[in-house]
Amino acid sequence: MRIKVGLIGFGRMGRCYLKEMQKSGRWDVLYICDVDADSRELAKRLSPESKIIENEQAIFEDERVQVVGLFALADSRKEQIEKAIQSGKHIISEKPVADTIDKEWEVVDLTENGENLSTVNLYLRNSWYHQAIRQFIAQGEIGELAILRICHMTPGLAPGEGHEYEGPAFHDCGMHYVDLARWYAGCEYKTWHAQGINMWNYKEPWWIQCHGTFQNGIVFDITQGFVYGQLSKDQTHNSYVDIIGTKGIARMTHDFKTAVVDLHGVHHTHHIEKPFGDKNIDVLCDLFADSVQTGIRNPQLPLIRDSAVASEYAWEFLRDAHTHDLPAIGELKILEQIRERRKNMKNGYGLLPK
Ligand SMILES: NC(=O)c1ccc[n+]([C@@H]2O[C@H](COP(=O)([O-])OP(=O)(O)OC[C@H]3O[C@@H](n4cnc5c(N)ncnc54)[C@H](O)[C@@H]3O)[C@@H](O)[C@H]2O)c1
Repeated sequence: MRIKVGLIGFGRMGRCYLKEMQKSGRWDVLYICDVDADSRELAKRLSPESKIIENEQAIFEDERVQVVGLFALADSRKEQIEKAIQSGKHIISEKPVADTIDKEWEVVDLTENGENLSTVNLYLRNSWYHQAIRQFIAQGEIGELAILRICHMTPGLAPGEGHEYEGPAFHDCGMHYVDLARWYAGCEYKTWHAQGINMWNYKEPWWIQCHGTFQNGIVFDITQGFVYGQLSKDQTHNSYVDIIGTKGIARMTHDFKTAVVDLHGVHHTHHIEKPFGDKNIDVLCDLFADSVQTGIRNPQLPLIRDSAVASEYAWEFLRDAHTHDLPAIGELKILEQIRERRKNMKNGYGLLPK
């Protein structure tokens, strides 16, 4: 039996979910809701069998709907999660699960006390490359895990382009890497020091590097910035993890098409190149469909709590950057040029639909 789902928010992410749900054949998309008329028009074309609506209420009132997909922006999520819990729907949520940390913890309480299944799209956890690296580490191949180095710099979302409720780059995107480090460390953060720069003289740092320790002694550094050559003729990016143990190392890098994993362990050396897999929404939806159908939550599914913890530390690292010297380099007019260029780009890093 196909699982009946209602999707709320049909922007960049909502469209990815629809595509994967249609491809898998395991879902019946009964509703698509968006407040924007153009997005609803597109939804009608892409999913003629769905009911396309402007007001989300019908989704929560329809007893046939088993799962809601919450893919609008962070400011509407808490209310939607409350309605989902009240109406007994399972929840697939985008991150962050609300627009302030207090509301995120309320959402954690709500979902953990409810009967229904819930998960959040911390997509890196569902990637084949991080699964492969974690397995290698678990086999003891690199000895004891000691150093986590994570970097993600792209000419991506510029300030003022959207996602304002999601926070500056280090929160909106960086919370994935804050989550990833914690997931690898298997432990909570203990100490940190964050350095930022107010690129183009924008009021918030759009590049941050944070380093510190976990309670189990593992050290980390995370570098995240959507400041990577937005005005270069041919844009590029730099994204990697570099994981160092007492005996071996594991690392990966990708170009958004192919991911390359190098594993150098005490017994084995592997070089693996496979398609990147984008946001792994197919994996998330499959794991969730399995969980709904069996009634048993797949342990690989990220918890709403994981998202709240990552969000809280991403905000904290941002706050920490504000307490240190925070230089500004460049001028706001460069940022205007960047926005103008991105407005006209058809193919680029992290472009939101027009
Ligand atoms: N997990 C990830 O890797 C990842 C990547 C990108 C975005 N996201 C998250 O997904 C969410 C959506 O991001 P996006 O890039 O698709 O943004 P987007 O701006 O492209 O799409 C958001 C859509 O939601 C609609 N919307 C806004 N408020 C609404 C409401 N109350 N009810 C119904 N529709 C509403 C908008 O009209 C828009 O079509 C964000 O919270 C973002 O943080 C997560």
